[in-house]
Amino acid sequence: MRTNIVHEGADELTYEIRGIVRVAEQLKKLGVEIVWENIGDPIAKGETVPQWIKAIIAETMSQDASFGYSPTKGILSARKFIVAQRLRESKLILDPEDILFFNGLGDAISNVFTYLRRSARVIGPCPAYPTHSSAEAAHAGAPHIAYTLDCRKNWYPNLEDIRNKVRYNPMVAGILIINPDNPTGMVYPKQVLKEIVSIAREYGLFLISDETYARLSYGREAVTPLYELLGNDVPAIVMRGLSKEVPWPGSRCGWIEVYNKDKDPVFARYAKTLVDAKMLEVCSTTLPQMALPQIIGDPRFEQHLKLRCDGYRRKADIARAAFSAVTFLIAPCPESSFYYSVVFEDGVLNNKQTLAISNQAVREYLEKEVEGVAPDKRFVLYLMAATGICVVPLSGFNTDLPGFRMTLLETDEKKFKELIIKIVEAIKAYVGSN
Ligand SMILES: Cc1ncc(COP(=O)(O)O)c(C=O)c1O
Repeated sequence: MRTNIVHEGADELTYEIRGIVRVAEQLKKLGVEIVWENIGDPIAKGETVPQWIKAIIAETMSQDASFGYSPTKGILSARKFIVAQRLRESKLILDPEDILFFNGLGDAISNVFTYLRRSARVIGPCPAYPTHSSAEAAHAGAPHIAYTLDCRKNWYPNLEDIRNKVRYNPMVAGILIINPDNPTGMVYPKQVLKEIVSIAREYGLFLISDETYARLSYGREAVTPLYELLGNDVPAIVMRGLSKEVPWPGSRCGWIEVYNKDKDPVFARYAKTLVDAKMLEVCSTTLPQMALPQIIGDPRFEQHLKLRCDGYRRKADIARAAFSAVTFLIAPCPESSFYYSVVFEDGVLNNKQTLAISNQAVREYLEKEVEGVAPDKRFVLYLMAATGICVVPLSGFNTDLPGFRMTLLETDEKKFKELIIKIVEAIKAYVGSN
């Protein structure tokens, strides 16, 4: 090419949650039956959408308006519904003009980082949900700057680390919170959130709080929405969506709520950029926005969430009991969402360990695939080839911690127990093999 057309951040775009699928598909062709434990899609794992939700969507679809474009910021009735919710639940006054709908939070995240000034950095949690860390790194053309979630302390954020990263990196303009967190299932304690807000206040930063799992919590720690702690000065973007709660990931519907926009002219200008950019795209998907007030506003919705959360809690407990019995694993029990992250103690994994694989073609394929990969990915690949269970290595979440993330989405609890037993047996066999 006469001119280099490759984006400076091109190498930062990695998404192991789907990247691992390439290997799984190859193994499938070689006869391995894959158990998909990599992706957080409740529908793909067999959760059914209640009939009453389907009826609302069908009725909405019968309206011609659901086939049309929507306003750039989103359908006003949906935005007003969210405003009324914030007022009722948190006594908070939010302007419908400060809500902006996206084609899923993936789209929101991409825009939030694409239209951030190149030199301005946002620090985020580590392990990191890769859509955030990759998008932030790609916008800067440099590795993502992360603060530690401490796996020995319930995955809570290390506040000292946040404070130091902010203090010594003047280009840090914002702090990202994923609450509840993916991949750890941790819920940020209220006091920790307060501290993060005060760091933002002290250093003149803005906050991004991805709360896509906010209503899927089942642990001791209640989820405190960030907007309840911002006061009337700290600028923030809160992200919410339909993918996980309804669940309706195929709707591609998420939104941002912008708080304290007018308290800082630079933040206000940045927020306007996001609206302008969405205008170029025209708008986001109409149908889910039209259905949103009726679905979330339905009295059956709370019970629907509760039933699902009860199931996730039971499965989290089953997994915790099994993992905590293995001395070389660190596996804090999630408090929310439907993920479980497991870490191997330092030095437990090496590049000589294996699992027995009887199918020669599978073994030969795998031996090539594991060449030069991170130790946890090596384990994950062996696990998949030997048992068919497809989890995601933690190294795919922008961390050096060796481990893996699985889901709590298997709908049959008996099968889930068997799955956990298989994983634990495979861990012991793999680690014991060398
Ligand atoms: C923390 C977090 N944010 C955002 C997303 C993207 O969600 P959406 O389906 O709204 O694009 C996910 C998806 O797994 C997620 O885990």
